[in-house]
Amino acid sequence: MKAEKRKPGPKPLQQVRPEPTEIAPAGGKLGVLLAGMGAVATTFIAGVEAVRRGSAKPFGSLTQMGTIRLGGRPEKRVPRIKEFVPLADLDQLVFGGWDIFPDTAYESAANAGVLERVQVDGLKDFLDGIRPMRGAFDQRYVKKLNGTYVIESRSKREWANQLIADIEKFKRENGCDRLVLIWCGSTEVFLEPTAVHASIEAFEKGLDANDDAIPPSMVYAYAAIKSGIPYANGAPNLSADVPALLDLADRNEVPITGKDFKTGQTLMKTILAPGFKARLLGIQGWYSTNILGNRDGEVLDDPESFRTKEESKLGVLDYILQPELYPDLYGDISHVVRINYYPPRGDNKEGWDNIDIFGWLGYPMQIKIDFLCRDSILAAPIVLDLALFLDLAARAGMSGIQEWLSFYWKSPMTAPNLYPEHDLFIQQMKLKNTLRHLMGEEQITHLGLEYYAD
Ligand SMILES: NC(=O)c1ccc[n+]([C@@H]2O[C@H](COP(=O)([O-])OP(=O)(O)OC[C@H]3O[C@@H](n4cnc5c(N)ncnc54)[C@H](O)[C@@H]3O)[C@@H](O)[C@H]2O)c1
Repeated sequence: MKAEKRKPGPKPLQQVRPEPTEIAPAGGKLGVLLAGMGAVATTFIAGVEAVRRGSAKPFGSLTQMGTIRLGGRPEKRVPRIKEFVPLADLDQLVFGGWDIFPDTAYESAANAGVLERVQVDGLKDFLDGIRPMRGAFDQRYVKKLNGTYVIESRSKREWANQLIADIEKFKRENGCDRLVLIWCGSTEVFLEPTAVHASIEAFEKGLDANDDAIPPSMVYAYAAIKSGIPYANGAPNLSADVPALLDLADRNEVPITGKDFKTGQTLMKTILAPGFKARLLGIQGWYSTNILGNRDGEVLDDPESFRTKEESKLGVLDYILQPELYPDLYGDISHVVRINYYPPRGDNKEGWDNIDIFGWLGYPMQIKIDFLCRDSILAAPIVLDLALFLDLAARAGMSGIQEWLSFYWKSPMTAPNLYPEHDLFIQQMKLKNTLRHLMGEEQITHLGLEYYAD
C-alpha cells in the first residue's frame, strides 16, 4: 500500500474556540445621558426617534446595519451584529442630559440646523419632552460660551454631588435598568495631567479644593464612574483619561472609552494613510484645513480650545505611518491642521486636504480632497454605537479602557504602555474580533491556508 504523503509547506492554523463570555441580558430600559445637548447630541436623539418611527434608516451605524462573518468562508455565516451580540434595542433607549442653556432637544435641534426643519418639526412632540438638567460649567474652560443655565455652586465637589444626584433621579423617574453617559459637550481648553490627576485620593481632594486642573468634563466623568455608569468622551478633553479616573473605573468595574469622535477629515486620514503605507508611497506633506460655522466651530475659534483639538488631530498620522520604521518614506512630513470658524457654513463643514506624496524613484504626485461633509450626521451614529456597545461591555463584565472601541475615536485611549491604534481597518478587525471572542467564536485571521490543504 502506498503511504499517504503530505505536501511540505505551512500547516493550516488550528484554532481553539474560546469559552463564550457570560453576558447579562439586555432587557429593560437603557438611559442614555448626554453631557452637552447641542448639534451632535440632538442629531443622535432625533435620528433614533426617526428610525424608531420607521421614517429613516440608521446609516453609518455598525450596531444597526453592520454584519459580522463567523467561521470559514464556505460556512456563509454572516449575521447582523445586532443579531449576533445581545444589544439593547432602539425601543429600549431613553434620553436625558445636561446643558448650560435651557433649550429643549427640539429647540436645540432647530438651532443647530443639522436636520431639515420639517424633519425636526415632525418629531417636536418627542423632542420637546427632553429638557436638559443644569450643567456644571465655568467659562474659564470654554471661553466662547457664556452659560446661563448652570448649577449655582462654583464648588467642584458640589457639582459632583449634584451630577450624581441628577443621575440617580433620572434613573428612578424614567424607570431605567441601566445607564450610559456620553460627553457631547464643547471642547475645553488644553490641559495637561498634573499631580491632582495622579490618584483618586488626590483627585477627590482636588474636588474639595476646587483645583483649577479639574474642568467640568472631568467632574461628569467622575460622577458617571462613581455611580457605576459606563462613560464615553466625544471631545478631545482629557476628561476620564487620567490615572485617577482610570483607577476609579477599575475599582468600580466601569467600562470607559474616548476620546474625540472620529468624523470628517480625521476619518478620511485614517482611511487613506493606511493605504499609502500599504503601498509604500511616501508622504512629503499633508495640509488639512476646515471651514465650520456651528457652535463647535465658534468654540474652536478660541486658540486654547483649538489646541486641544489640534493635538488630537495631529497624532493620527504619526501612529499610522510609523516614521521611525520608515524614515525614507515618512521621516520628514509637514503635517498642518487648521480650523476656521465661518458662520455661513453652519454644520456643513468643508474640509480640504492637499497631500503631497511620492512614488517610484521619488517622483512627486498630489492628491486633493474636498470633503463637503456634515459633521453631526457623521457623529450621531457613533454616539448610538457607543451607547449600545458600552452597555454590552458593562453587562459582559468588561471594565476600564475599552480599546476595542478605538474604531470610533480620533485619540483612542489605551493602556499607558501601548501606542494607540489609528488604522481604521485594524480598529474594525479589533472590534469585530472582540465580539467574536465574547460570543465564543473563532478569530478571523484571514490566513486562508485551510482552503488549500490536502
Ligand atoms: N462631527 C462632530 O460633530 C464632532 C466630531 C468630533 C468631536 N466632536 C465634539 O463633540 C462635541 C459636541 O459637538 P457639537 O457639534 O454637538 O457642539 P455644540 O456646540 O453644538 O454642542 C455642545 C453643547 O455642549 C454644551 N456645553 C458646553 N459645556 C457644557 C458643560 N460643561 N455642561 C453641559 N453642557 C455643556 C453647549 O452649550 C452645547 O450645547 C464638541 O466637543 C466637538 O468638538 C464633534
